[in-house]
Amino acid sequence: MEKRVSFPRDEGFNVFYPGSVVLVTAVDAAGKADICTVGAWALVNGVPRMFGIAMCARESGNYFWKRYTTTCIEQTGEFVINIPHAGLRKAWDVCGSVTLTTQPDADKFALARLTPAPAAVVKAPLIAECPVNIECRVHSKLELPTHDWIVGEPAACHTAVELIEGTARLRWDNAPVLE
Ligand SMILES: Cc1cc2nc3c(=O)[nH]c(=O)nc-3n(C[C@H](O)[C@H](O)[C@H](O)COP(=O)(O)O)c2cc1C
Repeated sequence: MEKRVSFPRDEGFNVFYPGSVVLVTAVDAAGKADICTVGAWALVNGVPRMFGIAMCARESGNYFWKRYTTTCIEQTGEFVINIPHAGLRKAWDVCGSVTLTTQPDADKFALARLTPAPAAVVKAPLIAECPVNIECRVHSKLELPTHDWIVGEPAACHTAVELIEGTARLRWDNAPVLE
């Protein structure tokens, strides 16, 4: 396989997108709910289980500015990782392009046609249409140049019964295909 190398200052230098997306929900101090599409997330600890999400927190160029969801997480110390299925593609496009930072009155649940549901422990709503919802409390935060890597410790996890009983499974279909 022939490869070309590029370096950070080269035009067209790129990094590859990590893969699957999740929808992170959070509320601000006043209780206003937000949803943010997040591609940069991972399981980062074994016992207890912990998850990391990279939330843009500082401005740089056209793409990087503080997400309102970052503000919500700062204000409440809580968030929910909602794992969508492929049928929710339109919803994650909406949640990944509309921002409460510039449209503070937007109702992203309504715009994305998603249904809020009460969480068991945290104040942020779950997304009813997502088969898995992981309620998290912030454990720690690493401040990087544009993003905060926020580590959350799960407080509760809601899992579709079909997944627990094995009649359905999560298939991560967006693994890259080299054609
Ligand atoms: C596919 C996709 C993946 C994204 N991944 C991230 C991410 O990992 N971190 C982040 O801060 N923003 C990410 N974004 C951008 C935010 O979802 C977007 O700016 C959103 O409108 C922020 O909403 P908010 O300001 O209301 O929180 C992504 C957007 C898309 C479409």
